[in-house]
Amino acid sequence: MARINENFQKLKAGYLFPEIARRVNAYTEAEPEKAKRLIRCGIGDVTEPVPVAAREAMKKAVDELGERGSFRGYGPEQGYPFLREAIAENAYGDLDIHPDDIFVSDGSKCDSGNILDIFGPGNKIAVTDPVYPVYVDTNVMAGNTGEANDAGEYEGLVYLKCTPENGFVPAIPEEKVDLIYLCYPNNPTGTSATREQLEAWVAYAKKCDAILFYDAAYEAFIQDPSVPRSIYEIEGAKDCAIEFRSFSKNGGFTGVRCAFTVIPDTVVGTTASGESVPLKQLWGRRHSTKFNGASYPVQRGAEAIYSEAGKAEVAELVKHYMGNAKLLKKACEALNLKVWGGENAPYVWVGCPEGVDSWGMFQKMLEEAQVVVTPGAGFGAAGEGFFRISAFNSRENVEEVCERLKALI
Ligand code: MLT
Repeated sequence: MARINENFQKLKAGYLFPEIARRVNAYTEAEPEKAKRLIRCGIGDVTEPVPVAAREAMKKAVDELGERGSFRGYGPEQGYPFLREAIAENAYGDLDIHPDDIFVSDGSKCDSGNILDIFGPGNKIAVTDPVYPVYVDTNVMAGNTGEANDAGEYEGLVYLKCTPENGFVPAIPEEKVDLIYLCYPNNPTGTSATREQLEAWVAYAKKCDAILFYDAAYEAFIQDPSVPRSIYEIEGAKDCAIEFRSFSKNGGFTGVRCAFTVIPDTVVGTTASGESVPLKQLWGRRHSTKFNGASYPVQRGAEAIYSEAGKAEVAELVKHYMGNAKLLKKACEALNLKVWGGENAPYVWVGCPEGVDSWGMFQKMLEEAQVVVTPGAGFGAAGEGFFRISAFNSRENVEEVCERLKALI
């Protein structure tokens, strides 16, 4: 019989969002009438239509595929130069990121999981707690951890606690680690990291020869001009950081699928014998072996996000979602709940009312208000006692959620 990858047996329950969907489906079956008024503020999935500029570009690209003269088959695995050039210019400006440093893909979830392919065994890996579950689960699958304890913490991982006391930006660890996952603006807490905090992380990574995985998927939502949008704004980051970015949340591409990973030439790892190897080389090799490139129409759509019209539409989308975040934050504060995030990110992170744990709050919101939120404990042990409300919704739904919260608490 075929042997399985037994690391999968170590994973706790299902992936968070399917587990939430399972619970919501069970509720819908049990209470079909009440379920008609469900409002979903759980998974951070966009609700507003894809910008016209991107749609028009995608339609045009589809038509090109219908003509012999403009038909295209396999594209470059790394992404078409037109998109990589547009990204380098528009997302990085004068930060000196080259189109060759950019690898276009079909999502940051895949990239932040797949990146482990290019790292060997035995690395000491640090994740924040709470954390986007993909970082942890992919390490478990790759065999980089032992078993989980009762709190859901896996043996072998270093958990960097994010708490109200540290503003949900972890302290630099005492010990030396090799790989560190940071996500700012943060999912799930909606908080952001200051320039000084990121400088400290880059200095630590350089001192330890560690690699930072910097997930900047929510960069477009930053309102405070002093908050860095890219890790490469920090001096020295080009020697130690890989950045993940996505068109999902800014361009409404969660269903379209397009993202990119940035690896400058100067980011290196080592072999057992001490030879330095540029990680970009390995990722390029991996990408061209396991991936055939995002589709041509999708890459044209992503390129159009950077057109003048595209930028204006994205600005409107960001304004809309951040307007929602403001309303949700205010509504929770008015109920004397403790609230974080929602200022530079589309997530509002809320302390549960006295005596209710985070899955309890999820269930209460579902059954008594028909609002789906995400329980903080689903993001790690330190998420217990909190819940996350996603601001990705229509204004009408968000206003209704605010009303229902008032009636609930
Ligand atoms: C979330 O809700 O945390 C996000 O939608 C997850 C993702 O982007 O994959």
